[in-house]
Amino acid sequence: MNKILLGILAALGLGTTTGAIIITSGVIDVGADTPHSPVVHQVLNYAREQSIARSAASIKVPDTLNDPERVRRGAGNYDAMCVNCHLAPELPDSEIRQGLYPQPPDLSLKPDAPLELSASRWFWVIKHGIKASGMPAWSKGGMDDEAIWDLVALLQKMPALSNADYEQLVAASEGHSHGGLEGRAHDAGDHQEMPHPVVTGETPDSNKKHNHDHGAHKHNKHKH
Ligand code: HEC
Repeated sequence: MNKILLGILAALGLGTTTGAIIITSGVIDVGADTPHSPVVHQVLNYAREQSIARSAASIKVPDTLNDPERVRRGAGNYDAMCVNCHLAPELPDSEIRQGLYPQPPDLSLKPDAPLELSASRWFWVIKHGIKASGMPAWSKGGMDDEAIWDLVALLQKMPALSNADYEQLVAASEGHSHGGLEGRAHDAGDHQEMPHPVVTGETPDSNKKHNHDHGAHKHNKHKH
């Protein structure tokens, strides 16, 4: 019995020491342009899915997600805060999305899971974010639950929208208007928004200083 215990302790000790040596040596590549090995990728994927499913299970989905007002408000906030990472109907891929690892999903496409089942999952992810992925916890920046549900309402509709439908919703919205931290609610004018990927080769004002070549498209002026 004691020998078994000693054997287990020795194996654990050896494992810990090997792990410490690997970490300390710096051979683990943290570059976002090198994918995880298939095993690490699968383990991380599995852990993320299990965690989100567990946390989202108790979330009660409001029955007002089809309310056009929610979708309209959601479009303004989505366009201001999310579109550059998650795209919108018929938009070309963005630079930031191509460079992020894990890559943000294109939320203008139909998700694998049924839309109704995605609602609580999306709410949880938008509210809490995902560690070490680039997906922010929007509640920390002051977004309230109602504004998050507005975004979920838009996400449910997005796969069925054309680019013109999407732009129309954004134009009809109050832009970046979500409520949140007391006294810090903001509107479209009070701070800079994310540069918007463009459908045509045209450069929007917010991208004016951006002119490097990168295959898919070209901008005019650029400063990094
Ligand atoms: C800087 C880039 C970035 C921004 C900005 C961003 N996200 Fe994300 N988002 C990500 C990444 C990366 C993931 C994937 C994380 C992962 O799989 O581990 C993600 C995942 C998600 C998911 C989960 C999708 C699924 O079913 O797996 C949702 C929903 C989402 N984001 C919504 C939003 C919304 C809404 C906004 C704006 C309020 C937003 N994101 C802004 C990077 C971003």
